[in-house]
Amino acid sequence: MDIGIDKIGFYVPQNYIDIVELAKARDVDPDKFTIGIGQDKQAVPKPYQDAVTMAASSADSILTAEDKKDLGLLIVGTESSIDESKSTAAFLMDLLELPEDIRAFEIKQACFGATAGLQSAFDFVSLNPGKKALVIATDIARYGIKTPGEVTQGAGSVAMVISENPRILKLEHKSVYMTRNIGDFWRPTFSKTAFARGKFSNQVYVDFFQTLWQKYQAKFDVTANDFSTMLFHIPYTKMGTKALRTLEGKVSDEKYAELTDHYQASIKFSREVGNLYTGSLYLGLLSYLVNGARPNEELLLFSYGSGAVGELYSGQIQPGFDKAINKDKILNLLDNRQKMSIADYEKMYQVEYQNGTIVDPKTVQEKFYLSEIKENERLYKKLN
Ligand code: CAA
Repeated sequence: MDIGIDKIGFYVPQNYIDIVELAKARDVDPDKFTIGIGQDKQAVPKPYQDAVTMAASSADSILTAEDKKDLGLLIVGTESSIDESKSTAAFLMDLLELPEDIRAFEIKQACFGATAGLQSAFDFVSLNPGKKALVIATDIARYGIKTPGEVTQGAGSVAMVISENPRILKLEHKSVYMTRNIGDFWRPTFSKTAFARGKFSNQVYVDFFQTLWQKYQAKFDVTANDFSTMLFHIPYTKMGTKALRTLEGKVSDEKYAELTDHYQASIKFSREVGNLYTGSLYLGLLSYLVNGARPNEELLLFSYGSGAVGELYSGQIQPGFDKAINKDKILNLLDNRQKMSIADYEKMYQVEYQNGTIVDPKTVQEKFYLSEIKENERLYKKLN
């Protein structure tokens, strides 16, 4: 039975800042941010948006009544959860009007959460023929104003329906993974912003990729020639470039040129959005599907979550995959955003809703929003 990604949806907040303007405001050479880090724009969420509202938006963009009826599992991967107890998934039951015979929960392992969800969804669909699973990656990546990590922030969500006979990507059940206790990135429960040993994180990421690529080749008796595309976890696009570059000189020049060319197609959206944390790899997949993919291509996907877990797995693009993606909707979402000044972004960054806040729906532009914080409970609404 073929199992994999049947639908993929995306949501990005409707405000962004321009990375060249950010560089100028921070007195940095813009080339450092656009070339050295590899970013052009950064999504900025509104104060009434969070992991829940963005997850609702990405899932709402793809779910039909038929999907909802068939769902048996909902997994949200996030490291921006708004509650230490209740899962983001539970909030979505109302917002998405899902039937209650669903097993819904949240997974946290830094940027690996969505991949853990995807592999669990594969297992679930294998064991429950006819059922579908919804996996959502949703995050707000924050390091703080004027920190080295500021240029690698971002926000957004990717939702995927996993089913039999997938129309987009067949998962091949070929995978290698590894975990080590590493202090490269963390966010204690008291902190809204992450702490990172950025350069160390780069080293660990590249080491995990090289280790897993060796393991993958040995386990499945393949070489780079068996793949036309490698997709990477891309919190900022230079990071994936560093892993890809380890193949230079080790594969033929033609193969390296092909992988580099396809990688460029996979980072287009990330350059425009920034860091999605656990959604980053899947935004790369979506970017590749919209900007370069061909039917029957063999993909290798590298997932990395600080702390650290890595997984390398393969999939095959399905014939007719382009008909299962609403390319115009995705491009419109990206193209119709409003730019914010750096001063406005800094002001909005400081806004944090407290207990007792009631959000006036007239000030809301997005479909799903935080409507109120009452008795310290966050309550959400959908604009009709
Ligand atoms: N023109 C072109 N390039 C320039 C330049 C210029 N004028 N000036 C500098 N550069 C280049 C540098 O040569 C460097 O390139 P290489 O990395 O190829 O050497 C690059 O720009 C960055 O320069 P620095 O290393 O000097 O930059 P920095 O000290 O400001 O740190 C950073 C960069 C480490 C990425 C920092 O932004 C950071 O700490 N970010 C947050 C950490 C992070 O995002 N880690 C990844 C998260 S891990 C993850 O995603 C997993 C998870 O589970 C959360």
